[in-house]
Amino acid sequence: MSLIKNVAQQARRTNVVASKASSSGVYPLGGYNENKAQLRRETTAQYYRDHDIHHAAKKDSVRLKAAALLFTGRIPSNIDLIRSAQYLQSELPVRIAHRIKGFRSLPFIVVTNPHILKVMEQYIRSFKVISNFNDGRMVKTQDKVDDFTHLLEILLDEHGSVIDDLTQGFSSCHDHILEIFDGDEEKTHDLVQSFLDKTLTSRLGIRLLAQHHLLLKDQIGQNSRDRIGIVESRWKPAKDIEAIARKIRESWMFHCDNPPRVKLNGHTEAEFPYIPIGVDYILQEVFKNAFRAVIEAHANSARQMPPIDVTIAVNREDFTIRIADRGKGMKSDVIDKIWRYHFTTARGRQGYGGVGDLLSMANSNEKELAGYGIGLPISKAYAEYLGGKLEIKSMSGIGTDVYLTLKHIDPHKGHSFRI
Ligand code: ADP
Ligand code: COI
Repeated sequence: MSLIKNVAQQARRTNVVASKASSSGVYPLGGYNENKAQLRRETTAQYYRDHDIHHAAKKDSVRLKAAALLFTGRIPSNIDLIRSAQYLQSELPVRIAHRIKGFRSLPFIVVTNPHILKVMEQYIRSFKVISNFNDGRMVKTQDKVDDFTHLLEILLDEHGSVIDDLTQGFSSCHDHILEIFDGDEEKTHDLVQSFLDKTLTSRLGIRLLAQHHLLLKDQIGQNSRDRIGIVESRWKPAKDIEAIARKIRESWMFHCDNPPRVKLNGHTEAEFPYIPIGVDYILQEVFKNAFRAVIEAHANSARQMPPIDVTIAVNREDFTIRIADRGKGMKSDVIDKIWRYHFTTARGRQGYGGVGDLLSMANSNEKELAGYGIGLPISKAYAEYLGGKLEIKSMSGIGTDVYLTLKHIDPHKGHSFRI
């Protein structure tokens, strides 16, 4: 049996429950393991004989304007879903081939790291499965679209740990890369940063498109006033901010009695069409840092912790969310490094002391709260991918202000970014 049929059959057999409607969404869904090792060997061996990937990597990807995702109108139909599947059938292999090319351009010692190799193999396998689906012909019938949609669910699930794997991989490769560059930290940093920025933002785009398709499928025939695929028609930033802050505050309750409150001001009632998935990720990372900073700075004080102040400003072209904490800010030697992958002061690793002790003593959900040193660099890359920016102003001894500015996607306003 061919590799592709094998995987497609596995895809159909596996009963995956997808977190389709999750607005904070790019999360693992479940999994399948059958014959994985064999598939890995086959795909990797095939890669070196195969010209499809090289050919696809030469094509340019077709990045859609965010507003174009609204092409279906209010009531998505089966025709819309077929069009969406056909677009993904031709577009995903090109994007994935670009990613594989990126892995191939890494130094040998890096790409052979088991975590990094695992991710490259996943991309090779996904390239094969998607480009050979329906024997490489465009889907035309409802049944085939259903099979394709189910396959996407499984691939989204299977790629769920890509960020963790790449983080671990690059972290353990650091010294090898440094050796390649004769101890030059800047060059080492540039290589890691340019690879991870490109890979992770492209992955965000791929996952947004795939999730859009899955959500559209659920909305067929429904008058979706609130959302079309991943686009929420009346997204209210204040609502997501409150939900994310509440979740992180609750996690902190395991470690301290009275974590800071979050206070909202500005355009708290504003609503507009938006794609919340990327922005929710960024907000989560920024809030984790703000909570940690305030708690670390005030853990030994009997007084109530100062609140985290969030200001929302919605303008015609863009909107800004400012998250201001009184967590004593950062010294300049820390500020200089915060945008670097793997830089963290959690767990006192870098010799700055800190709340890490508090977290590791509690020995529970520490990883949810800080410690990988990837939150800020990924968030900045995502913000820029979404046509915006993430900026930080810190006053050492006082606190930190984070500004997230993003463009609207409203087609009537003429401003949009591409996915
Ligand atoms: P992590 O939170 O896993 O350490 P990040 O990339 O999110 O990784 O942050 C990197 C570092 O930047 C943190 O370890 C911390 O030293 C510093 N930092 C980020 N935000 C703040 C803040 N609001 N106040 C003080 N320090 C901060
Ligand atoms: C990823 O999440 O890394 C992907 O590329 C998912 C895609 C294969 C559906």
